[in-house]
Amino acid sequence: MADLSKDDETTVEAVEAAINAPVDRGEPILQVRNLVKHFPLTQGIVFKRTVGAVKAVDGISFELYQGETLGIVGESGCGKSTVAKLLMSLETATAGEVLYKGQDITKLSGKALKVVRRNIQMVFQDPYTSLNPRMTVGDIIGEPFDIHPEVAPKGSRRKKVQDLLDVVGLNPEYINRYPHQFSGGQRQRIGIARGLALNPEVIICDEPVSALDVSVQAQVINLMENLQDEFNLSYIFIAHDLSIVRHISDRVGVMYLGKMAEIGSDAEIYEYPTHPYTQALLSAVPVPDPEARAHRERIILTGDVPSPANPPSGCRFRTRCWKAQDKCATDVPLLAIPERFKGVDSPAAHDSACHFAEVKDVVGVA
Ligand SMILES: Nc1ncnc2c1ncn2[C@@H]1O[C@H](COP(=O)(O)OP(=O)(O)OP(=O)(O)O)[C@@H](O)[C@H]1O
Ligand code: SF4
Ligand SMILES: [Mg+2]
Repeated sequence: MADLSKDDETTVEAVEAAINAPVDRGEPILQVRNLVKHFPLTQGIVFKRTVGAVKAVDGISFELYQGETLGIVGESGCGKSTVAKLLMSLETATAGEVLYKGQDITKLSGKALKVVRRNIQMVFQDPYTSLNPRMTVGDIIGEPFDIHPEVAPKGSRRKKVQDLLDVVGLNPEYINRYPHQFSGGQRQRIGIARGLALNPEVIICDEPVSALDVSVQAQVINLMENLQDEFNLSYIFIAHDLSIVRHISDRVGVMYLGKMAEIGSDAEIYEYPTHPYTQALLSAVPVPDPEARAHRERIILTGDVPSPANPPSGCRFRTRCWKAQDKCATDVPLLAIPERFKGVDSPAAHDSACHFAEVKDVVGVA
């Protein structure tokens, strides 16, 4: 196999050939293997010494399938944005692999990386700060064409930007306006248009609607769903809000302190969660139906999230888990179908990183 880490013509050609190959719907387009990101903790101003590491992402594996939306949820600081940046090559991985159509993008650089980056784009959380206030929307949306002029040769750019404005439901005549002349929802549409400019296959959305009003959130989510169908996009959708994630996702991964606690289809996670952390998260979501509300058990998590610089031994959730036993302090639970559910035809038979995984009725989020 060619060494794709070097930035020579052969490498670029090999990467281009690999990523131009079509992937069937339902086949993995991204494969994340044991991904690790440790940020060094330093002391001293002049002579900096490394005294430890923030284990922001600590051995995560998952797949994103062509045409699907994978939701990622978890408390603040659990490593969601760091995963997003690693997938975008905006951070350098400490270890592990991110395979995009079989190419490990953590090993690519120069032109080869540029070729891949075109196909994996990002939509950011805050439409207020992620758009440069001194640039017109035309320049903001068209900026990616400076790096990839082959997508919109000079002369065709204005038309291409206007088409993108139209696609995201904005008036193409707004091309010369500035971000402050738009509402929050409209600004996020501009962010989405910029994300679409290079015809990507994968879009990583890091809390794309968290800064928006609830009514506007629904419009932006609907737009994203329509665009997914129209352009055959695969999404990674990071959010705090479990109902929004359920609404848009085909599968959902639950992160805790740099690890994946549980991953499965939306029904498996929301109706048959087997990991105590997922169960606790779901039990905290308000349920509109009074009858369902009366029958459900609320799980209150005690204690703070431990520091990622010094995570607990064994299972990272054990300091807050009501089911923790001795084994949980010594043995790291692997993300896999729990032994008791292996070969069983049940929605509980999905990947869960708990030694004592079992189904608990916490009432799924509608
Ligand atoms: N550049 C950095 N240097 C040092 N530590 C960092 C850096 N970036 C993130 N971290 C730490 O890594 C951990 C994970 O951060 P991250 O931003 O990925 O969390 P998150 O799940 O996206 O949180 P939120 O929901 O608040 O956005 C946190 O403890 C954070 O302080
Ligand atoms: S492995 Fe133990 S501590 Fe971790 S979630 Fe399961 S029961 Fe709780
Ligand atoms: Mg974040």
